[in-house]
Order: sequence, then structure tokens, then C-alpha cells
Amino acid sequence: MFSNLPEPPADPILGMAQLFAADTSPEKVDLGIGVYHDAEGLAGVLSSVKAAERWLLENQQSKKYYSSSGNAEFNDRTRAMLLGPDSAEFQRARTIQTPGGTGALKLAADYIWSLAPQARVFIPTPTWANHNAIFPRAGLELVRYPYYDPTSGQVLFDRMVEALGDLRAGDILLLHGCCHNPTGADLTLDQWREVAAIANRHGALPLIDMAYMGFGEGLEEDAAAVRLLASLVPEVMIASSNSKNFALYRERVGALTIIAADEGQAIRAHAHAVPQARSNWSMPPDHGAAVVAHILSTPELKTQWEGELAEMRDRVTGIRRALAEQLSSNSGRDFSFIAHQRGMFTQLDIGSDAVKVLRSRHHVHITGSGRMNVAGLTGGNVPMVARAISQALAA
Ligand code: LMR
Repeated sequence: MFSNLPEPPADPILGMAQLFAADTSPEKVDLGIGVYHDAEGLAGVLSSVKAAERWLLENQQSKKYYSSSGNAEFNDRTRAMLLGPDSAEFQRARTIQTPGGTGALKLAADYIWSLAPQARVFIPTPTWANHNAIFPRAGLELVRYPYYDPTSGQVLFDRMVEALGDLRAGDILLLHGCCHNPTGADLTLDQWREVAAIANRHGALPLIDMAYMGFGEGLEEDAAAVRLLASLVPEVMIASSNSKNFALYRERVGALTIIAADEGQAIRAHAHAVPQARSNWSMPPDHGAAVVAHILSTPELKTQWEGELAEMRDRVTGIRRALAEQLSSNSGRDFSFIAHQRGMFTQLDIGSDAVKVLRSRHHVHITGSGRMNVAGLTGGNVPMVARAISQALAA
């Protein structure tokens, strides 16, 4: 089985870690994988997370099995955070904890396939690289819709709407809830309203990838689009992640929230999704979810975490502004869109050769597709990176 295996291709995002480690320059800058770095360039553990971990160490009574839907307190808190605890949508939804946002998408994909193998999954171009793998691996067909123009940095909404005209009843429409990965360009609430009408017209089910809640405008603001959509469309799924907003990356904390037409249908839909988790991973790892559940259920820790999240968000917003200004003035081109985009990423209009030049000559590491993790910049290296990108674009 193993004797004639070819060299496998590197993962377009996680594979960046090896390239970065192999770069011996002291000037090197990691703008590849979506990880937040502070002003000193460190990707540390949040103080609220440390406090919750200490609490768990002292107080956790047992590590016996949960059910395949994971930590019930985490699931309730997640559902409340996404949909608002007093909303009608909260009532008609149920959540399953998953190993990260990827686990949530994998669970959604297997679940969709089990119920409707003919469903096609409409994904934006561009989108998070792993979307291209997760759905076909579950046996589902992908359809790509245009989303973004890298030259102007704007959403191609008219072209998106035109392409969504091909949706059929039962198809899945994948959307990024906020802080679109890789572009940072989000739909306006009016556009979300239009997308909801399209989904309803065609009988399509929106699946929201919500991996950056709190990194855009704020927790409530970032949830507004999802809440609006869920109030307008009878059936929606949300794959959420706490990798970024709790900086719990490798602890793998995520959830799949299923919203149905009413509470009874949501309970039944949840019950049918649970066996999919059982046959994939039996149950998700608890530690990170227990940390999140403890923070969200302890008022002073919740306030502390919200402050830490706001600090991360504000730093990214400031870096976006500085980068947009310096790139525009160095290149003579208009990069102001970077300041208006949200979340960790922006997508540069840059070819793969220029990406290689950036890496080999300037030691600036972005993904091969031209996605840059703005949250990896510090105030100190923005000028150097802006100069390097301008030179690589001009070459
Ligand atoms: C990213 O997009 O860089 C992150 O979500 C990490 C990953 O798993 O790809």
C-alpha cells in the first residue's frame, strides 16, 4: 500500500509553517497562517483563558465521557452567542460541539450527504482553501460563485447574485458570516437580505462559516448578518470556531448549530446529526470547550475576555489603516480597501511568482494564493512589508 507513494502536495495554508521555519532570516515575517500576533509579534495565551484553565485544574471533578454532542454548557453558550439568548432563532436551534470549525464543516458535510447526497454546495471564489476539500471528500459536488475583485478589493455582488440564480431546491449556499477568509470583504446587511430572499426563492439552505466572530466590528455587530439571515430563512446551519476569538487554535474548539423551522424540528435535526459525530470522532475534545464554557458563564471572566478580544480587534484595525496608507503611498495605487475590510485577511492581486519573490527576497511569507494575514503584522514591520509588497507588485 505504501511502497510507491509520490511526494504529497503541501497544504496551501498549514504547509506555510515549514517554509517559514526554513527561512533563516532574522527579518522574516509570518503572514501566512491565520493566527493573531500581538504588537510584539507573539501569539500568546489569553489571560482569561489562563484563568479558566487554572479554575478547571482546581475544580473539574471528572473527565468521564459526554455524549457525542460534547459539552452541553458550551453548546448552550455558543448558541446564545451566535443567535442572541432571547431570540426566536435561539429557540429553534440546537448546537453540537465539534473539533474546531473544520470539524463543524466536516460534520455538516457528512450530515448533508446523509440526508441529501444530490445537494450541491455553492462556495465563493475565493474562499478558505479547506472548503474545496471538505465537501467533495463527503461526496458532495461543489459549485463556485464569483465573490471578490482583488484589484478593487470589493465584493462582486451583482455577479454573485447572477451565479446564485443556478441554485436548486436542497442545494447548500456557503457564506462567510463575517471577516471573509481570505478577502476581508463582507456583504452589507442589505445584501444579506437579498441573499436570504434568493435562498428562499430557490429552496437553498445557507451554511454559514463563522470563524472570526469578534474580529470585525464587535461580537454583536459581527453576529448581525447571521441573525438577520436566520430570521428570514427557515433552515440554516452555522459552523463556528473559537480558534481565533479565544486564541485556542490547537485546542480545536468549534460547533455546528442547526436552525430549523421550529424547535421540535431543531431537536429532531440535532438528534440525526449526533450519530455523524459519533462515527467521525465519537466525541469532541473537552478542554478548550470547557475553558470557553467557563469564561462565558463567569461574568468577570467574560468581561475580561471581551476586553482581550477588543484589544486584538482594535490592533488589527489600526494595522489595516497603517498598511493601507503605506502601501498606497509606496505603490501609487489605491489600497484604501484594506482599511475598510474586516478580520485577519486581505487578498492581494499578486501572482505566484511575486509571492515567491516576497518570500525569497524580502522574507515576507504570505500564502501562494496572495492571501495576507494582516494580524501577523506589528507596527514595527508594516513599513518594511509595505515596501516589499510594492516592489514585488512592480517587478
Ligand atoms: C487559516 O485560514 O489560516 C486558518 O483558518 C488556519 C487553517 O486551518 O487553515
